[in-house]
Amino acid sequence: MKNTLINRFTGVAAAATTMALALTGCGSTDSGSDAGSGQLQGRGPITYAASKTEVTAAAPLVKAWNAKHPDEKVTVVNLGAVADQSRQLLIQSLQTKSSQYAVLNLDVIWTGEFAAHRWIRELDPKLYPMDEMLKAAVAASTYRGKLYAVPTNIEGGLLYYRTDLLKAAGVESPPTTWAEMKTDCAKVKATKQGAGVDCYAGQFDKYEGLTVNFAEAVNSAGGVILDKDGKPDVDTPQALTGLTTLVDAFKSGMVPKNAITLQEESGRQAFQDGKLLFHRQWSYQYALANARDGSSKVAGKFAVTTLPGIGSHPGVSSLGGHVLAISAFAKNSKTASDFVAYLGDAASQRAGLENFSISPATAATYDDPALVKKYPFLPTSKKVLQNAVPRPISVSYGDITAAIQEQAYAAITGKKTPAEALKALQSALEAITG
Ligand code: GLC
Repeated sequence: MKNTLINRFTGVAAAATTMALALTGCGSTDSGSDAGSGQLQGRGPITYAASKTEVTAAAPLVKAWNAKHPDEKVTVVNLGAVADQSRQLLIQSLQTKSSQYAVLNLDVIWTGEFAAHRWIRELDPKLYPMDEMLKAAVAASTYRGKLYAVPTNIEGGLLYYRTDLLKAAGVESPPTTWAEMKTDCAKVKATKQGAGVDCYAGQFDKYEGLTVNFAEAVNSAGGVILDKDGKPDVDTPQALTGLTTLVDAFKSGMVPKNAITLQEESGRQAFQDGKLLFHRQWSYQYALANARDGSSKVAGKFAVTTLPGIGSHPGVSSLGGHVLAISAFAKNSKTASDFVAYLGDAASQRAGLENFSISPATAATYDDPALVKKYPFLPTSKKVLQNAVPRPISVSYGDITAAIQEQAYAAITGKKTPAEALKALQSALEAITG
């Protein structure tokens, strides 16, 4: 196994370089078949496989496409709401070289792994609106200097907070640190309106969301998971401060006990049922929690700010989002390519934002005055994306995230101390990255 460090993030994601991006390539996968690198071929019906939120966002766009392209209809396959399961389903299919899915909606962290395994086609940048994309989004679509995907959504973790409850407790502005968040929470709990409301939750179930939240705790305390040379460096005082802050929040009851089962959707339900004062979540929650059809108890009662920092260090979000790739085994790949260009263009991304508050990858959409009016969180998102840190990018991403989930979960459930968990994680990551 050889290790290759490729630092692909520049500009917008400049902070990302501090974390280092290790692309760990196994010789055997990289020198594999040439599937998918040839000419695009064929037109006709195709399938589009995506996770739940992306399926919802694409529905009206697919409907419009199908009306215009009766001979090139797109069938959407819902891979479910949990990132890890979507990844498994895609990989199982691609490992058998199945043409089952033509267009794949990938999490930003999978591009390197899927490209290295030659499961997705290299793309011609001229066919897609790449110049309009945020640099972090282009980087997340690129592997070894070549384009493999077209981004449709790029996002960072945001702190949602209940404006009504903070106001009732006399708190004038949202917290900027975990310590302030704790103090504000105590104030809110002492009010009539705040009694019975839990303080804070993120995504703490044992899945990809935990990797995201763990990375944010570590990075928000000034730590890293991999150093600038791509080597694991998580057994440090900074990472310890980050993980200890999270674990202490569980111990003190600031985070409710059931939070170890929370994923994006269950946490969103808790927030919109009015059960949480603070919630770490992606932008898609905004439109749903603000719905005026009775499905949300907190419509008009919340706002969004940047994640809280730890000590004197500012809060840092993990970089999230999704990109579109074409399966190396796709039939009708000309149609697949046109569909990718369509779903990735600024108009489609604008629609995803307008209808479902999904953070776009197209830069100008963040400055659209009508959208900023509708979604006041947009300037915050833009700021968050300037400092968001990608998770470690590796051909072995599946093993890396599993190791993080294992140790972070052991720490938040009290099975290991934060120090023990970080030591074990350091050894596991060293073994994985060689
Ligand atoms: C969101 C993010 C994605 C992340 C996932 C974790 O879908 O866009 O990047 O991996 O949440 O649950």
